[in-house]
Amino acid sequence: MTQRRKFLKQVAGASVTLPFLRATKLTSSKSKSYPLPIILCSRGENWGNKLLPVAWDKMHETGNILDAIEVGANVPELDPDDASVGYGGLPNEHGIVTLDASIMHGPTHNCGSVASMEKIKKACSVARLVMERTDHMMIVGEGATDFARAHGFPEENLLTDRSRRVWLKWKENMSDHDDWLPPADGDYGLEKRPRGTINVLGVDSKGDVAGITTTSGLFGKLSGRVGDSPIIGAGLYVDNAVGAAGATGRGEEVIRTCGSFLAVEYMRNGMTPQEACEAVVKRIVDINGGIDNVDFNDKIVALSKSGEVGCASIMGSKEGPPQIAFVTKDGVEVVNGTWLKEWS
Ligand code: GLY
Repeated sequence: MTQRRKFLKQVAGASVTLPFLRATKLTSSKSKSYPLPIILCSRGENWGNKLLPVAWDKMHETGNILDAIEVGANVPELDPDDASVGYGGLPNEHGIVTLDASIMHGPTHNCGSVASMEKIKKACSVARLVMERTDHMMIVGEGATDFARAHGFPEENLLTDRSRRVWLKWKENMSDHDDWLPPADGDYGLEKRPRGTINVLGVDSKGDVAGITTTSGLFGKLSGRVGDSPIIGAGLYVDNAVGAAGATGRGEEVIRTCGSFLAVEYMRNGMTPQEACEAVVKRIVDINGGIDNVDFNDKIVALSKSGEVGCASIMGSKEGPPQIAFVTKDGVEVVNGTWLKEWS
């Protein structure tokens, strides 16, 4: 196999000094190393408890960090109740679910991704095959579905009835000047256009690092829109000498800041994962002209090679602080990150 292309870029520090809101655990000035191996996901208790034990068991079964994070990320991908990842994800403007996912392996610096892929539930597993079974890094659209089919993935309808109803309500309420009419009592509980995603990052007992990001992307997106999740350096970045970072939230902002790459480079230059996550969030806010101009959310999570964790977002969640969960030999732990303003 030919050598994968590498790139390195030094970045300047963020210039704004917004005060971060803090809950309990994570502070930027000190950092605790948790024992290796460690697997982290960008969600709190509920999803942490669902997927991290599965990933942990797999790591002990095969000893391979890629296997572990893959089966962990497959949990929300296969779960119809998660409306932002895989099966059951909210669709694009035409009511079609399209998935974006990426994977990166620290020891080899290899990566793979799929974008705008239809009909295949386990997008991160297809991304892994792009990494391991092709000399490419990214396959999109019909080509990604063809590639998945060639590797034995079944083609399935990813649109659940719940997601279809949410899409229909959105469509029916888009405009007073079209012919789509909402029912008199239609209420599907949709408050905002969700763009949930999940990052699963891990370090094995040898200190080798890997990461995955997987999503169905922005609800109601234009057909063909690709977010940050499958773009290496944006929604995910891993460097085996440093650690890993992943992003969720408004992908357009993460793409134009190279958010995950930036977090890893900040860590390389001496920041803790928490400081790095906060600096990327500040960078995003800064390029938008300050917090008062920002009406979207982005969340950055990071894990260092030595087992330190970080999490920061622009907004808190409806429930409070942004959270991450991770598993070590001591079990699943949930910690709060920092955030700049309350959920709105
Ligand atoms: N971060 C996911 C997306 O924007 O599609």
